[in-house]
Amino acid sequence: MERKKYVIFTAAGSGTRMKSSEPKQFLLLGGLPVLHRSIFAFVDACPDVKVITVLPKNQIERWKDLCIEYPLDVPQVIVEGGITRFHSVRNALAKVPDGAIVAVHDGVRPLVSKDLIRTMFGKMRECRALVPVVPVTDTLKSLERGKDGELVSTGNPDPDRSRVFGAQTPQMFLSEELRAAYSLPYDISYTDDASVAARYGIPLSWIEGERNNIKLTTPGDMALAELFI
Ligand code: C5P
Repeated sequence: MERKKYVIFTAAGSGTRMKSSEPKQFLLLGGLPVLHRSIFAFVDACPDVKVITVLPKNQIERWKDLCIEYPLDVPQVIVEGGITRFHSVRNALAKVPDGAIVAVHDGVRPLVSKDLIRTMFGKMRECRALVPVVPVTDTLKSLERGKDGELVSTGNPDPDRSRVFGAQTPQMFLSEELRAAYSLPYDISYTDDASVAARYGIPLSWIEGERNNIKLTTPGDMALAELFI
């Protein structure tokens, strides 16, 4: 039997790098909140997908207001976020049944294409975990921050950029396996779901990501995203 599809939108970050009083997932992009655009991308690609939205506790009422002001006629389960992204995803996984495919997508990646979402759900018939990646184009340097925040060489050789890729979202998993992986204790290296899954021993498959599928992090990213749309 075909597995049901779920998507968890992580949108419980504080967004301090955006330097805006409004959380970045609520900023308007082409006249619509960023999180609306992320949700519409999935629902347009896959109308039967079930939506779980993870938000900071103090922003849940604001989000409900925004869903009326900018009509979002999509049933959603709203979940309170945790102290890190890892804890936010773990809270949301409690709402996903076993036997489903679960996608986890950063709420601040509104430019993901319908094509990528559909292709990934299709490939999940043969994979246990699927992660979109893009090649790194810059030359890489091995550096660290000194006492006053200044950059200093680590003395290690620079990484070979032909063997380094940037991981994006959505990342897709079998729900019972991802929930089992999230029973691991938190580790600071868990900045995405694939890192948790890999530590648990789930084999990862890879797919070419999309350069435009940027994670809106700084004010410059918003300007770039406006251009893309
Ligand atoms: O902080 P980072 O850029 O890794 O955030 C990636 C995504 O995870 C964002 O969409 C952010 O809202 C979300 N997040 C979360 N809960 C946290 C921290 C980040 O849902 N505690």
